[in-house]
Amino acid sequence: MFMHKLILAELWKRRGQFISGSKLAASMGISRVAVWKHIKALKEYGYDIAGISGRGYSLRDVDSIIIPDEIMKRTRNRLIGREVEFFPRVDSTNEVIKRRLQDKQFQEGTVIVAGFQEEGKGRLGRNWESPWGGLWFSFLLCPVLPLPQIALLSLVFALAVARALEDFVSMPCKIKWPNDIYIGGKKVAGILLESSGEIDSARYVIVGIGINVNIGKGELSLENGKNAASLSNYCSKNLNNTDVFVRVLQSVERYYYKFVDQGFVNILEEFKAYCLHLGNEIKVKQGDRLVAGVNVDIDETGNLLVDTGGKIEKISTGDVNII
Ligand code: BTN
Repeated sequence: MFMHKLILAELWKRRGQFISGSKLAASMGISRVAVWKHIKALKEYGYDIAGISGRGYSLRDVDSIIIPDEIMKRTRNRLIGREVEFFPRVDSTNEVIKRRLQDKQFQEGTVIVAGFQEEGKGRLGRNWESPWGGLWFSFLLCPVLPLPQIALLSLVFALAVARALEDFVSMPCKIKWPNDIYIGGKKVAGILLESSGEIDSARYVIVGIGINVNIGKGELSLENGKNAASLSNYCSKNLNNTDVFVRVLQSVERYYYKFVDQGFVNILEEFKAYCLHLGNEIKVKQGDRLVAGVNVDIDETGNLLVDTGGKIEKISTGDVNII
């Protein structure tokens, strides 16, 4: 695995160019056949590497490839992303973390990021399409907080992501409660929290964040594509996933500590300012039940307050539709 990493680092350094097998072999101190075998293994692992005889090898999809050392060096977070692991292809980054929970070496704050998810999961049992070009990542937290507080993390991280993405586009990023990120009326990012524990404290929380960074038109199914957009649709050039990832991780860590140290009350006003539908008419679907009315406020426990005409309903779960 060590040699794979070195070859990958070399290909990454020369991204956009070809490097010959003999040059790679000489710089690694191995044979050309050994280089070929490592390249084959990297391809099987999910990396897209072009090989042209006479020219050598070149890494493709470079904008979507995450080099963990680079992220850790640039992010400098003390918790979220102090360890980063990149996998070109996984089922779901949340599932990768679940499988690693028994491993004592797997630390809180470790981020698992993938180039492609075969079985990406969304909220409310939906699937989450995760082609190459997006940022699909999860991290583990073990906060000493009661479960109702844990639910607030959804809102905290939504705000953190919205604030970070705003640095890359000239349009406002808004939040559809509890944690969908919208730009120009289309969803560009979503968050899935999975936790386990007792009512008085959580054992762990897995935070999964999906961001459509450079997803081309037609890469999402018709059904998902009609309400979704990519961050790159709102800026003039393709974005580099590494730049977006670094910024998002920094913001996520900053808001997490703000929440833990100062509580949600100190974040609430900012969340309200980013909320897409505060003051507007909405419909909230809760299973078979539909609540319709004006979203008049959000309370300090993160509930939506909906005026249904004479009565204020507190909404703690559901799917919001803006009328
Ligand atoms: C939603 O809006 O429905 C939530 C989407 C969450 C998607 C992310 S991508 C990384 C992590 N792994 C998953 O399988 N899901 C989350």
